[in-house]
Amino acid sequence: MKKLVCLFLCLVLMCGCQSPSISTNETLKIVVASDIHYFAKDLYKDCEWFEESMLYGDGKMVTYADEILDAFIQKMIELKPDLVVFTGDLSFNGEAQSHQELAKKLQQLKEHDIVVAVIPGNHDVDNIFAKGYGKDDYFDVEGTNAKDFKDIYKNLGYEAAMNQHKESLSYSLSLNDDYTLILLDSTAHELTGSTLDIGGYLSESTLSWLKTELEKAKKQGKKPFIAMHHNLAVHNELLNNGYTIKDNESIAQLFLDYQVPFVLSGHIHCQNIKQINGIYDIASSSLLDAPLQYGVIDINSQQMDYHCESLQISKNANDYFDTVARHKMEDMKEEKKLDVLVKANRYYFAGVISQHKEELESMEGYDQILNDNDFYKNYLLSMLKEEIDSTSLHLVFDDSNK
Ligand SMILES: [Fe+2]
Repeated sequence: MKKLVCLFLCLVLMCGCQSPSISTNETLKIVVASDIHYFAKDLYKDCEWFEESMLYGDGKMVTYADEILDAFIQKMIELKPDLVVFTGDLSFNGEAQSHQELAKKLQQLKEHDIVVAVIPGNHDVDNIFAKGYGKDDYFDVEGTNAKDFKDIYKNLGYEAAMNQHKESLSYSLSLNDDYTLILLDSTAHELTGSTLDIGGYLSESTLSWLKTELEKAKKQGKKPFIAMHHNLAVHNELLNNGYTIKDNESIAQLFLDYQVPFVLSGHIHCQNIKQINGIYDIASSSLLDAPLQYGVIDINSQQMDYHCESLQISKNANDYFDTVARHKMEDMKEEKKLDVLVKANRYYFAGVISQHKEELESMEGYDQILNDNDFYKNYLLSMLKEEIDSTSLHLVFDDSNK
């Protein structure tokens, strides 16, 4: 009898150490979105030039974020995925109020029994640019440190965690009997200190924790896959610096050793799928960039299907993106060439340029750009190198090594 009581206690203790899987479904539906850069309206409402300044930014529809997020949340309530993952850059520049308001919005998904899992990006924690925009000048606002981040998003990932890394904001989730999701804090932000760096890297401590998690998944007979902000692969030879995680080759080799089939990333604000050492890196574009898209993954032990869906709001997102692109390339004075560049740029960032090559080639300014020898020719050629559609992916898993 004593032995039985002991065994029971041991089992209770063992079960008590780990959160249960988030789903009992064999096929999981997972949605991934990235780089929301949510900016609390109160922090720019008195600034008359803020909206105009965004048209000279990078294309994010920051002032439409509420409408975009409300549309996204409504879609999720209809779709009812098992999990929604956000791969970092949740806030504009790490303002506490932006994080808090975003967390409150995302809480609506929790209320519909949809698990949400967030991970920080380089903008989110200890950001020295956390400012409000006043009538005439910037003003200081409360920022967010790593402990605040964990507290604000405790219901949006951390409480459901199977394991949390004590020295970073990394954690793992048991998804079902077949999969573990490891969410990596690629900002290498240590809870004990502060580091602001746009280039991603895994600290030694995070790397060691990652190895432990990969080993645990292996022992449990589960496939691990990864979500992190920075990219594992190089997605564009001209947009490389600061986007791809440091030591990406050795990290990709580690993932290969543990049969990680794919990584979900963000950061580059460009929808792009590339392979490195056989590992797929699915970089999601910003949810605030045209075409306001997110990825939908259906995955079971045999296969994974990924495709993108986009949102419609009151403002035409393509027109907005093109206006920003025209401002960015204002030194290009020849209208026909500019038309080609603006269109190619939008198709490229949406991950669909491979489907539009003929359309671009038939445009009047296309040959004129190729006859030049300048940055724009190289930029166009770098975008046209894309041979695949980056808005869908189908993987079949060989389970012989499981
Ligand atoms: Fe971002």
